[in-house]
Amino acid sequence: MSLSPSLYFLLSVALAAPKTSSVSTSTTSSTTTTITTTASSSAAPIHSHPSSVYHGSYSGTPTTTGELRATSVGTGVSVASPGPAATTYPSDGKLHDAQPAPYVPAGGVGLNKSPVYNVKSDFDYQSLALGLYQEYIELDLFRYGLTEFSASDFDAAGLSSVDRYLIEFMAEQEIGHATLLSNILGDEYAPSECAYNYPAFASVREYVDFCQKLTRWGESGVYGFLPHLESREAAQLLLQSISTEARQQLIFRQFEGLFPMPVWFEVGIPQSWAWTLLAPYVSSCPANQTRLVWQNFPALNIINNPVPAYANATPAITQNRSTPLSQPGGQVNLVWDAPGKPVGPNNSYITSTSAGRPAYVAWVTQLNVTYSALTISNSSCNNGKNITYASTTQPNLETFSGDPAINGTIFIAVTDDDPFLTSYNLSLINDHVVAGPAVYQAG
Ligand SMILES: *[C@@H]1O[C@H](CO)[C@@H](O)[C@H](O)[C@H]1NC(C)=O
Ligand SMILES: *[C@@H]1O[C@H](CO)[C@@H](O)[C@H](O)[C@H]1NC(C)=O
Ligand SMILES: *[C@@H]1O[C@H](CO)[C@@H](O)[C@H](O)[C@H]1NC(C)=O
Ligand SMILES: *[C@@H]1O[C@H](CO)[C@@H](O)[C@H](O)[C@H]1NC(C)=O
Ligand SMILES: *[C@@H]1O[C@H](CO)[C@@H](O)[C@H](O)[C@H]1NC(C)=O
Ligand SMILES: *[C@@H]1O[C@H](CO)[C@@H](O)[C@H](O)[C@H]1NC(C)=O
Ligand SMILES: *[C@@H]1O[C@H](CO)[C@@H](O)[C@H](O)[C@H]1NC(C)=O
Ligand SMILES: *[C@@H]1O[C@H](CO)[C@@H](O)[C@H](O)[C@H]1NC(C)=O
Repeated sequence: MSLSPSLYFLLSVALAAPKTSSVSTSTTSSTTTTITTTASSSAAPIHSHPSSVYHGSYSGTPTTTGELRATSVGTGVSVASPGPAATTYPSDGKLHDAQPAPYVPAGGVGLNKSPVYNVKSDFDYQSLALGLYQEYIELDLFRYGLTEFSASDFDAAGLSSVDRYLIEFMAEQEIGHATLLSNILGDEYAPSECAYNYPAFASVREYVDFCQKLTRWGESGVYGFLPHLESREAAQLLLQSISTEARQQLIFRQFEGLFPMPVWFEVGIPQSWAWTLLAPYVSSCPANQTRLVWQNFPALNIINNPVPAYANATPAITQNRSTPLSQPGGQVNLVWDAPGKPVGPNNSYITSTSAGRPAYVAWVTQLNVTYSALTISNSSCNNGKNITYASTTQPNLETFSGDPAINGTIFIAVTDDDPFLTSYNLSLINDHVVAGPAVYQAG
């Protein structure tokens, strides 16, 4: 990222915390890739990250378990009604207040004070720390595929050396994003890179599909909290990184021959949804890593999730997808775990739910949250844990006329109720989540 002198000034003055370890700004080596940046001496340094990362499961005993908790924990967020003032602005195209200056309309937030690019609340800290976990796994995942598969494996999947370079460049983007978030959080306590445990990818296609799904929840996880941050300064910079991540997600879709952007709006999800999806792939973190507050819901698996590889499309800018991957009315088969399972870094987080009996499937896509009825097939006890099989039917809805809401890479969860929720209050769904989310490959 090339910074304008004024932004660089703000970043270096307001953000740069003392580094506990130094890293060469000219060369960073990993097991596979060597990044040679041409950074001038005036560029801010990148954050240190390990040159080689362990991959595999964690078999030790965690030194601590459970999510981070404050000394006092309430029973729920109380939501006030918006009040009459929420709808009094006339919205008629006329100016209703004196202008502070020519060309400047009255209003706006944060325009009359000098920005400070830090976190300003526990909500901000925990949200950005979650974002940092995500940037780090992306950095590792992008490099991992380039080591795991040979050039000829990639060639066989229709991905050439320039495509592989693009994945390597995406890894470099993640170094930048991780540096930015570490600087905003403060280097001393910001989470570090962890060790990861990926599925056994049988092919480049499977790897690319996993990248496409992982970047989807990375992107959507940020959209869910961005407008709720206290720190609008942090939101500004995070927005500019997540816009890059959105491009990565789209490119991975093109790499696996999916229609690049089959929706009109990109979906946002709550932090605990992103953490539920991410944590199973983090095997262990450094000893002094701070802990996250977010919930890990029981894992939800979609037994018959549409598989993009079946479409047999080759990488392309776009596709004629006359046969959709999924259809309204299609049956979706699900299985989920009971709560109480160790998950995530060092198996030190425990899955939980505060919901009642499973009754619905929530479909979170584009601007919509909609529900379908759940039919329980059977449940069985496995090692004292209740595993439930159920099914539902893919709903049919549009955002605006002409835009079927369920398409692309979306999220579903099993819930006990069907509360009316919209993009800005979606996190109120968490009390109702029995299991999930899972990533549904609708198109
Ligand atoms: C997680 O595992 C790492 C590597 O074995 C260890 O250094 C660290 O202390 C562990 N953390 C916890 C919370 O158990
Ligand atoms: C999803 O979008 C693609 C591309 O526009 C389209 O071909 C397909 O029919 C859509 N799927 C559904 C279920 O609407
Ligand atoms: C955490 O551990 C790393 C590696 O040992 C060390 O560089 C860093 O200073 C430690 N941070 C804290 C807050 O103890
Ligand atoms: C896509 O393929 C279908 C079926 O072969 C064909 O009818 C349609 O005209 C194609 N659409 C475009 C835009 O090429
Ligand atoms: C439970 O339902 C699943 C999915 O329908 C099925 O595969 C499985 O055999 C069933 N198990 C029992 C014990 O009925
Ligand atoms: C398992 O959970 C399902 C869904 O909540 C419930 O219907 C069933 O009675 C439970 N089975 C056992 C053995 O607890
Ligand atoms: C989907 O979201 C759009 C935009 O908020 C809304 O107009 C529409 O009514 C929603 N559709 C359903 C079925 O909830
Ligand atoms: C979520 O927001 C919508 C307004 O967009 C409101 O109608 C709904 O009642 C809210 N849901 C809850 C559970 O507060």
